[in-house]
This record gives sequence, structure tokens and C-alpha cells, in this order.
Amino acid sequence: LGPIGVFDSGVGGITVLKALKATFPQENFLYLGDTARLPYGTKSPKTVFRYLTQNVEYLKQYDVKAVVVACNSASSVLCPHHTFGVPVYGVIQPGANAAFAKTRTGRIGILGTRTTVQSQVYVKALKNLDPDLFTIQQACPLLVPLVEEGWENDSITTEIIVKYLEEMKQQNIDTLILGCTHYPVVKETIQKVMGEHVQLIDSADAIAEDLANDIAQGFLTFRPEHGGRIDVLATDDGAFFHHIASKLMNPFSINSWEMADLRQVPEKRLYEDI
Ligand code: DGL
Repeated sequence: LGPIGVFDSGVGGITVLKALKATFPQENFLYLGDTARLPYGTKSPKTVFRYLTQNVEYLKQYDVKAVVVACNSASSVLCPHHTFGVPVYGVIQPGANAAFAKTRTGRIGILGTRTTVQSQVYVKALKNLDPDLFTIQQACPLLVPLVEEGWENDSITTEIIVKYLEEMKQQNIDTLILGCTHYPVVKETIQKVMGEHVQLIDSADAIAEDLANDIAQGFLTFRPEHGGRIDVLATDDGAFFHHIASKLMNPFSINSWEMADLRQVPEKRLYEDI
């Protein structure tokens, strides 16, 4: 059995990879950052779905035993009836479950990209768990380029977060879903702005738990002796990507870097399963 594939539109999904690595230290992971086509969060669901399919097909060439769609925007276009010939895990349901388990007041906030917010996936997943939950969403598109730029500790980023959270702060929420892979990087600032009484839900931890459950129940085979490699692919080449990815992955290190050419995915395989 091959590695667990993980993909995101860029470097943000490394926060998910790190949580997976911490949970399954002996597993091999193959990460794909679609840096050439980032951001996903401003694109239409149709386009994001095409990217998702291509990425899964690309990772399948490496014999992955499962694919974790770390990207919330890509997870938001994933439907249970889609089959890819390999188990594909999205981050939305695990994130919603974790928020539902944590909330005491039933008032939950959701931060995400425009694609994720407009899709209402988190709202639907939460209302499925309990129709009486109060939800409020906020799209924070500017946070993605700021994190990609490595400006997570810059005062400009704090100012932008304060502005984005203005409305959210009025709504007496007790739980806030960080519905984008990039947001855990600015978690501390978000926590400071919202106050300590608000619990932040990081989909990275939630998906790692979900996978652990599936492994425990035998839905997914896991061979602990595999070796613990982390190989990273990106659709665009860039030293800066390496720098930010290594920083986010710390204390774990990345074993190899390579550029991915998605044109290698045979065109006819792209939609055969859908
Ligand atoms: N990775 C995306 C997500 O989690 C955010 C970045 C983007 O817009 O591509 O939604």
C-alpha cells in the first residue's frame, strides 16, 4: 500500500499534514500543493471540482491508499456520491462534528473562503446535526495571500483580522470553525481578537481524528512499519513555497520536493468515476 495523499491549493494544507503526521508518525505522506492554480477560494464550484478531480487522479498515480482533501474550498464541492476509486476524505464534516461536540450555547461561527462560505456546506452540515444551531459565516479572502506571504505576525494581518471579525464578535458565539487551511497559521491572533471564551475548531485535528477512527474500524488499512516519509509536490516551483512549508511543518521535516505536472494525468481518466 502506498502513502496517504494530501492536497491543498497551496501551502496552507501543511497545517493538516502536520496534524496527520503527529497522529500517524510512521505513515508515509505525499502532499500536493496546487500552487500554480491557487487560490481555489475565489473560483466557481465547477472549476474547483475539476481541480479536485485532477489532483486526486494525479495522486492515484502514486498508489495512494487514501486522499485527504485538506482544502476546505475543494472539500465544499465534494459529495458523498462521488467515487474516485480511492477513499477521499474532506474536512467539512469532521470540522462540523468537532464544533458540534464543543459548543455549549449552540452558537457557532464559521470562517472560510468565498467558495466555502457561499456553498453553505458548514451551515448545512451543522444544521443536519441540530437544526436549532445558530450559525454565522464570514469570508476572509485576504488572509490566504497574507499567510502565503509569510506575514502571519505582521500588524497589517492583525488589523485585517480585527476588521473581518467585527460582526462575528457581536454574535455571542462560543465556537468558531477555522474553515480554511490557512487560518490555523493565524490562530493566535484570531483567538486574541475573539477572546478566550471562544473555542477555535481546527479542521486539521478533526480530520486526523476522523482518519484514526476509520483505521480503528478497519475501513482504512494502515501499516505502521511503513517508514514515516513526507514527500511534497507542488504544481509551481518556488523556493518560497519550500521555505513556508518547512516553517509550518516544523518540528517535522520534509524528505523530498518535486514539481508536479498535472498534464501527466490521462485526460480520459479525469471524469470516468463521476
Ligand atoms: N486552501 C483553501 C481552503 O482551505 C484556501 C486557499 C485558497 O483559496 O485556495 O479553503
